[in-house]
Amino acid sequence: MQHFASDNYAGICPEALHALLAANTGHAPAYGDDEWTRQTSERLRELFATDCDVYFVFNGTAANSLALASLCQSYHSVICHELAHVETDECGGPEFFSNGSKLLLAKGEDGKLTPETVREVISRRNDIHYPKPHVVTLTQATEVGTLYRPVEIAAIAELAHHCGLRVHMDGARFANAVASLDVTPADLTWRAGVDVLCFGGTKMGLPMGEAVVFFDRALSEDFAWRCKQAGQLASKMRFLAAPWLGILEGEIWRRHAGHANAMAQRLAMGLASIPGASLLFPVEAKRCFRDVAAFGTGRATYSRLALLHFHRCWRRPLHVRLGYKSG
Ligand SMILES: Cc1ncc(COP(=O)(O)O)c(C=O)c1O
Repeated sequence: MQHFASDNYAGICPEALHALLAANTGHAPAYGDDEWTRQTSERLRELFATDCDVYFVFNGTAANSLALASLCQSYHSVICHELAHVETDECGGPEFFSNGSKLLLAKGEDGKLTPETVREVISRRNDIHYPKPHVVTLTQATEVGTLYRPVEIAAIAELAHHCGLRVHMDGARFANAVASLDVTPADLTWRAGVDVLCFGGTKMGLPMGEAVVFFDRALSEDFAWRCKQAGQLASKMRFLAAPWLGILEGEIWRRHAGHANAMAQRLAMGLASIPGASLLFPVEAKRCFRDVAAFGTGRATYSRLALLHFHRCWRRPLHVRLGYKSG
C-alpha cells in the first residue's frame, strides 16, 4: 500500500538499513566516540567541502530547537516565515530550549521570506522593550514545497549579517532541494551565507536522525552539552550515524531525493487532470498541495481521497509528501 500523506510514512531505504546492520558488530565506544560517527562526520565535511562541525540528534524538532538555542540569548528573537515548522509544529521547542527567545513571524509568497520581509521585521522596533532580532531561519525546501535559490539565500543572508543576525536553515528536506536545483550542498548553504544547517536524515530514507551542521565552528561551542541536557545525546551513537554512511556513499541520497521529486511532479500532473482543481503552490521539490474544495465537498470526493491516503488539515487543504522511494 502506498501512502501519500507524509514522507515520514516511508520505511528505511535499503542502503541505510544495510549500513545500520553492518554497524551492529561487536562493541564500540559510546556517546559518539565510535568509528561510524567519526567517518560520517568526515563524509559530511567532504560533502559540504568545508571544515564544519557536525552533531547527530534524533529528530528535526530537536535539531532546530537546539541549533536556534545555540544562536540566541533568551532576550533575542528569531525571524521566521509564518508557516515555518519552528512556529507551527514544534510545540514551542525553539522558545523552550532558548529559555524564551521569541519567534517573530513574517509573511511571504509561496512560503518564502525575502530580504524585504526580513527587513520589515528587523526594523519594526529597536527599543529595549522588544526582543532583539538575532537569527533568520529559512526552511529548505519550504513548508509548501517551494525552494530558495542560492541567490535568494545570499540576499537574505547578506542583509541578516549586515544587521548582526545569524542565518539558520531548517533542512528537513534539504536533499530534495539540492537534487531539484542541481547545485552543490555548499552553494546552497555556507557559500550563500548559512551559518547552521539542520540536515534532515529521516525524510531522506534514514530510520531516524538529523545532522546539525555548524559552518561557523565558533557557534557550536558547548553544543554537545546542550544536546546531552536535552536528552539528544545518543549513547549508542553509531546507530544514528551509520545509516548516513549508507546513503552518502555514491551520492545515493541525491538519487533517492531526485526520485521523490520526480514522483511529486508526476503526481501533480495526474492531479492536474482533475477538472476544476488548481495547484496551490509550485511543485519544486517533493511536496504537492491541491485545493480539495475544488474537487467538491461531497462525501464521495473525500472517500476517494481518503483511499489514496492523502493528508488533510485545515491549514493545508491537500498535502502530499513523498518518501525516499515513491515509485
Ligand atoms: C520543515 C520541517 N522541519 C522539521 C521537521 C522535523 O520534525 P520532527 O521533529 O517530526 O522530526 C519537519 C517534519 O515534518 C518538517 O516538515
